[in-house]
Amino acid sequence: MNDMAKMYKPLFYLLTLIILTLIEVCKSNPIVTTKFGQIKGFSGNYSDHNYESFLGIPFAEPPLGHLRFQLPQPFNSTWTTPYEAVNFKDGCVQNPSSAYKFNISEDCLYLNLWRPELSIESNDTELLPVFYFIHGSGYTSSSSAKESNQGDVLAATQKIIVVNSNYRLGAFGFAHGSHTSMPGNLGIYDTLTVLRWIRDNIRSFGGDPNRVTLAGQSSGSKVVSILSTLPDKFDSQSLFSRLIMMSGSATKQIHAENVSVALAKTRLLASKVNCLSQVDQLESSDELSDETVDCLKKLDAKDLLKAQNSKDITAIGCSEISVFLPVYGTDLLPYRPMINHAKQIERIKDKPMLFGAEQDEASMFSSVDGIFTLNDAYEFTKKRISFAIKNIKPDKIDSIYKFYFNGTDPSSPYDIRSRCVKLCSDMNYHCPSLILAEFLSQKNADIHFYLNSYVGEKLAENAGRLYGTKHGDDVKFGLGSPIRQYNLYTPNDRRFSQLFLDLFGTFAKGFHLIGWPSITINMNDYESLQIIKNLNLPPTNIVDHGQQICIKWAELFS
Ligand SMILES: *[C@@H]1O[C@H](CO)[C@@H](O)[C@H](O)[C@H]1NC(C)=O
Ligand SMILES: *[C@@H]1O[C@H](CO)[C@@H](O)[C@H](O)[C@H]1NC(C)=O
Ligand SMILES: *[C@@H]1O[C@H](CO)[C@@H](O)[C@H](O)[C@H]1NC(C)=O
Ligand SMILES: *[C@@H]1O[C@H](CO)[C@@H](O)[C@H](O)[C@H]1NC(C)=O
Ligand SMILES: *[C@@H]1O[C@H](CO)[C@@H](O)[C@H](O)[C@H]1NC(C)=O
Ligand SMILES: *[C@@H]1O[C@H](CO)[C@@H](O)[C@H](O)[C@H]1NC(C)=O
Repeated sequence: MNDMAKMYKPLFYLLTLIILTLIEVCKSNPIVTTKFGQIKGFSGNYSDHNYESFLGIPFAEPPLGHLRFQLPQPFNSTWTTPYEAVNFKDGCVQNPSSAYKFNISEDCLYLNLWRPELSIESNDTELLPVFYFIHGSGYTSSSSAKESNQGDVLAATQKIIVVNSNYRLGAFGFAHGSHTSMPGNLGIYDTLTVLRWIRDNIRSFGGDPNRVTLAGQSSGSKVVSILSTLPDKFDSQSLFSRLIMMSGSATKQIHAENVSVALAKTRLLASKVNCLSQVDQLESSDELSDETVDCLKKLDAKDLLKAQNSKDITAIGCSEISVFLPVYGTDLLPYRPMINHAKQIERIKDKPMLFGAEQDEASMFSSVDGIFTLNDAYEFTKKRISFAIKNIKPDKIDSIYKFYFNGTDPSSPYDIRSRCVKLCSDMNYHCPSLILAEFLSQKNADIHFYLNSYVGEKLAENAGRLYGTKHGDDVKFGLGSPIRQYNLYTPNDRRFSQLFLDLFGTFAKGFHLIGWPSITINMNDYESLQIIKNLNLPPTNIVDHGQQICIKWAELFS
């Protein structure tokens, strides 16, 4: 090496270091230019799958002050410096829970976006499919920041764009007081605003606005089912091309309430916080006065939250889990959900759909622990059904009871409880989904149904699971928790998660699900059977044995 080279060697190293650092900075802080200005995210990787995160992007004005209880106002400001999309925003107002690692605030209308790293060398002219996931938790809790709702693993492993978002919850999102000044259903309007944001902005991120899969779980799945049937004036059919409904569909009373029930709840809420105006106390018109609504808008969010927790509000309605529900007889939901589906059936006939359920879905809600005898089980059955279906005739309850408890070992609390779990799982999740899938299959030949039966090995070990898969298990595996939270799961858990991620990826990319027949029309046929996919290691096709009893449930719900 000559002297010259020796002299420049340190400089050479320094330059290399600077260049490498610059590349690293660019790599770890991707910037996307949108019509609002630049958005700065950050990069990450799961083994050799690189991805980019853009967290906490506003999609609506903060619903504060006079905007509380109002339709979302689409975000329409511009940034002069890059917007720092590097942290999750607070979840919407709800009871704090130690299980949730996010703060809560009324200023919560933000979305998160993940995409695979788009390499500079490759010819990425093709826009990527988009997957919008709407989280569950009974319209009352959770957020897009909750670990299991995050989309990074799905985006990284499947090379698609994943979006999730918050939407207003509880009274803030669903209390209905008047068609104009407090219209209710705001949580659903929020998700509609996100869909429109995707239509208008996803190209900036390399996404294809014409290939949007709308997915949700539990109440999020019910929101998906509602969004798919909005009246024509919302012009919403062009906002999505495929649907995934995991454990929930808006097909029966306990998924939506009429205006009079919704109003009665809101009236009670207002009286609890001393906001019910003189006029509203004297006469019960079908609208709350502006005076009452204004008072509710000025209230501290904490006081409103505290008041909504009272059990007597829930008791007016049909759901024990949600205080407030979507309201029908409104602009957004003109009729009962099943009728809205019937009215829109032609418009969704070409949109492929994936429905899902868990084996022992209702074991999530541990309310069967106090059941020991068949008599306990009968009381349980009566209470559950008559809460959900007001004025149900006793003989109908008896026939349901006989079906589920026929042949039970009366000395085995486990056998009795398992059947209680089965009954509630069918009533709340499996049957409403199967009924809707069969109904839509009158026109749509691309409707697939899965039953998730894979119990995570560590989940079973740690929680001492008594039953099979429960509500929410499919979100953990479908969105990749075993890969994100590596140490909490086993290699088999990761294999199963990969299988689930591949299913969602395949579906979102528009590929056919091979070797898996579509649900067919047999709504009134007790004997004909549906073939569904039993998701496990390995997946198999099985007959859905719910056909007979689901038809009975459908009769009760209608
Ligand atoms: C990201 O990639 C690096 C280098 O390939 C690897 O060491 C690391 O384990 C990866 N991270 C994850 C979470 O997989
Ligand atoms: C957004 O703001 C611009 C400029 O103020 C206005 O021209 C435009 O109509 C607004 N768009 C929406 C959707 O409100
Ligand atoms: C929650 O709020 C506290 C106090 O403002 C803050 O220190 C913390 O970082 C926040 N946590 C999250 C996850 O945003
Ligand atoms: C990129 O792909 C498109 C479509 O496949 C092709 O027409 C174009 O020539 C490619 N460009 C480069 C630079 O490879
Ligand atoms: C609303 O629903 C409740 C409970 O299901 C029912 O009792 C009431 O008659 C309904 N009201 C109207 C106007 O449909
Ligand atoms: C109860 O089970 C027996 C034997 O499996 C069957 O014959 C009978 O029809 C069942 N009864 C009801 C009400 O399902």
